[in-house]
Amino acid sequence: MKGIILAGGAGSRLYPLTLVASKQLQPVYDKPMVYYPLTVLIASGIQEICLISTPHDLPRFRQLLGDGSAWGIAIEYREQAKPEGIAQAFLIAESFIAGQPVALILGDNIFFGGDAFPRAVAAFRGGAAVFAYHVHDPQRYGVVEFDAAGRAISLEEKPAQPKSNYAVPGVYLYDENVVAYTKAQQPSPRGELEITDLNKEYLRRGQLAVHRLSRGFAWLDAGTSTSLHEASAYVQTIEKRQGIKIGCPEEAALHRNFLSLERFEALLARLPNCEYRDYLQSVAVEFRRTVRSSETP
Ligand code: DAU
Repeated sequence: MKGIILAGGAGSRLYPLTLVASKQLQPVYDKPMVYYPLTVLIASGIQEICLISTPHDLPRFRQLLGDGSAWGIAIEYREQAKPEGIAQAFLIAESFIAGQPVALILGDNIFFGGDAFPRAVAAFRGGAAVFAYHVHDPQRYGVVEFDAAGRAISLEEKPAQPKSNYAVPGVYLYDENVVAYTKAQQPSPRGELEITDLNKEYLRRGQLAVHRLSRGFAWLDAGTSTSLHEASAYVQTIEKRQGIKIGCPEEAALHRNFLSLERFEALLARLPNCEYRDYLQSVAVEFRRTVRSSETP
């Protein structure tokens, strides 16, 4: 499966932070925001990635992530001239998708916990798959309604009267029909190709799987100054308590075998002396120990 990170938009709700660097380049505690969705894709076993952003911001994403080869992945870049909807990503990335199944993740969605995404990617056989997460303010999101048997029966984008508390987070899996279905779609009254309309098309065809994310799972929003600050505080709390990092692409690449331990160590030797490097060093030590103990008869 291929992967798309959508990291465009005006970021106007974070003004003036976003005057110089886009929302997805802002720090969430100790890393740029885009590291978090990128790590989700890598941890799900996705090695070919396309990042979509504005013509203005793309050069900075290239500077930050390069072509991905240092991490054993391949990153391509595409421009979205205007924010004309999340589903437009499939039209912009059509040549990248090249008839393959594809995962889309929004560049401002931060997740932590469990293995729901790697499992869904591994189990994906066609149609579309989205996720459902219980929130207190569903009217801000795409909302999914379930029947008594737990089957998804409706989807609505930012409904004034939500039919459930289950919001659809910004991670979506699609089969090779996604480009054709998006081409057949009409823009919504606000002039956007809506991701919820695309998901409704798969639902109408009986091809939409909805996986509920469990209670222990964290999905954080970083779209306003307050939620950005809260996301940073959350990441700091977990990292300090557990001695692990959330959203570390190098670590995910090592664990997915996209990077050998030798390449991982060569990469960290090139980093400046900093906490991030110390952490990667500890990851290498632990990795070596785990591999050794699994080799012990
Ligand atoms: O976060 C999950 C929610 O994302 C879903 O529950 C909703 O169904 C979905 O519509 C979306 O809602 P938002 O209100 O968060 O969408 P927003 O317009 O803020 O866009 C989300 C991110 O995608 C944002 O970081 C900017 C980026 N984006 C958005 C659009 C419309 C683009 O890069 N290009 C676009 O054209």
